[in-house]
Amino acid sequence: MTVLVAYGTTGGSTAEIAGWIDEELRAAGLDTRLLSAGAVDDVEGYEALVLGAAMYAAGWHNDARKFAKHFEGRFAGRPVYLFSSGPLDHTADDTDLPPNHQAEVAMQLLQAREHVTFGGRLTDEAHGWLGFVARRLEHDGHTGDFRNPERVRAWARHVAAEITAARPGT
Ligand SMILES: Cc1cc2nc3c(=O)[nH]c(=O)nc-3n(C[C@H](O)[C@H](O)[C@H](O)COP(=O)(O)O)c2cc1C
Repeated sequence: MTVLVAYGTTGGSTAEIAGWIDEELRAAGLDTRLLSAGAVDDVEGYEALVLGAAMYAAGWHNDARKFAKHFEGRFAGRPVYLFSSGPLDHTADDTDLPPNHQAEVAMQLLQAREHVTFGGRLTDEAHGWLGFVARRLEHDGHTGDFRNPERVRAWARHVAAEITAARPGT
């Protein structure tokens, strides 16, 4: 009985969030597999799914979008939880930000129970085109690390409790 924790990331910050979730699920006694959404070729046998995506241009990261399309309906009857990461300010912590359109589509395809939005990270240490964008945005004060590990971990503990409660015979 293993939980799949999958993520779509470009700059690595969503992968790190998925890693914090993975740690909490394990601490709660669950077996997990932590994978880039683009590296998953089969979902057979997983008892539950946590799928997260970075948000770009009001959309969901391509790897997570493709995952949701490819594995449409495959988690029926099993608990599925989605998260988005993105806002480069404190709005994700201060308000309950709804899923964007592509995340909503993913929720339907995977019959997700829940979606949550976490703050994102963009700093001038980013590589390639992300670094270029970050250096441009820095002037306007739109960069930084707005992730909140405690909030992420608290959500993961709630997910772990639900997955455990959903097990047959419990
Ligand atoms: C070009 C660009 C577009 C972005 N668009 C959005 C957006 O539409 N909504 C949002 O909340 N965050 C947006 N962000 C912020 C990213 O989602 C944030 O940096 C996130 O943490 C990136 O995750 P990653 O490091 O896993 O790729 C954007 C960032 C860049 C560089």
